[in-house]
Amino acid sequence: MGNKADLSVDIGGLHIRNPTILASGILGISYEVLKRVYEAGAGAVVSKSISIEPREGYKNPTVVSVEGGYLNAIGLSNPGVDAFVREINNSDIPIIVNLVGSTDNEFVSMVKKFDGLNVVAYELNLSCPHVEKVGLEVGDDPELVSKIVRSMKSNTSKPVIAKVGLGSSDIMETARVAKESGADAITAINTIRAMAINIETGMPFLSNRIGGLSGKAIKPVAVRCVYEISKNINIPVIGCGGVYSWEDAVEFMLAGASAVQMGSVIGDKWLGAFTNITRGIDKYIAKKGMSSVMELVGIAHKY
Ligand SMILES: Cc1cc2nc3c(=O)[nH]c(=O)nc-3n(C[C@H](O)[C@H](O)[C@H](O)COP(=O)(O)O)c2cc1C
Repeated sequence: MGNKADLSVDIGGLHIRNPTILASGILGISYEVLKRVYEAGAGAVVSKSISIEPREGYKNPTVVSVEGGYLNAIGLSNPGVDAFVREINNSDIPIIVNLVGSTDNEFVSMVKKFDGLNVVAYELNLSCPHVEKVGLEVGDDPELVSKIVRSMKSNTSKPVIAKVGLGSSDIMETARVAKESGADAITAINTIRAMAINIETGMPFLSNRIGGLSGKAIKPVAVRCVYEISKNINIPVIGCGGVYSWEDAVEFMLAGASAVQMGSVIGDKWLGAFTNITRGIDKYIAKKGMSSVMELVGIAHKY
């Protein structure tokens, strides 16, 4: 890269070499694969959501391709905390562990198992079903979000990132509660509830019938969420949703993101996406006469 600009970013105490991050859940839970993604140029990688007990997830089909992206309902399948601790035991890459649980105690007991490892931050997936309030997600219960974030913060010195989505609650309110409870950063957004039906058979494509939409189709919604959260709640934000090109990444950063996560793009462009996007951002900031990629963050707030 010809430009001498600093491409590293700081996200609430998490320092990474460039602003491209693998989003949670995209490439399974194998350490070998996560390492390949890092070696292909990602600034950091996020694990699939890990729960205290192993989870089988839903029956196939769990992913379907739709216009502008994917629809998925995987059911948070994962091998559980103990198996994943063994998987990343000797990690030498920056892994952000994404955790899912339905009580603050579950989060704390998982953190105790991960904290001695080379884990650079935790991301809380607040989309887990809420046990006591059946039908609700954890993120829809502000008191529980607060309890989880506070418990995380008092049990680890590593950055805690709350991943917020468009559940039944107001995304801004969830982000505000997370910040007030001590979260170091916010990831916005997760997939958006959506559905597709086969018109020949009349059957929904996904076994769970309803799933989450990701990819290009959700990008403008995600950019709006990043803009509003970073402007009104004033906390570092990681943008996620439909980043396919360096132009998309720049747009998220102008909206207020300090970094971007990429998921669905990998289905189209495989791992080359990380280097291509980083290179594109590098050229763009050179053209704009900037010396650090952080100078891009939130420029759109001026207008
Ligand atoms: C197949 C698939 C599995 C996913 N699994 C998880 C998960 O386990 N935990 C999580 O927080 N997000 C999960 N997500 C959401 C992504 O991390 C991301 O928020 C979403 O896909 C939007 O980004 P994208 O448009 O770049 O894909 C998953 C997405 C897909 C497509």
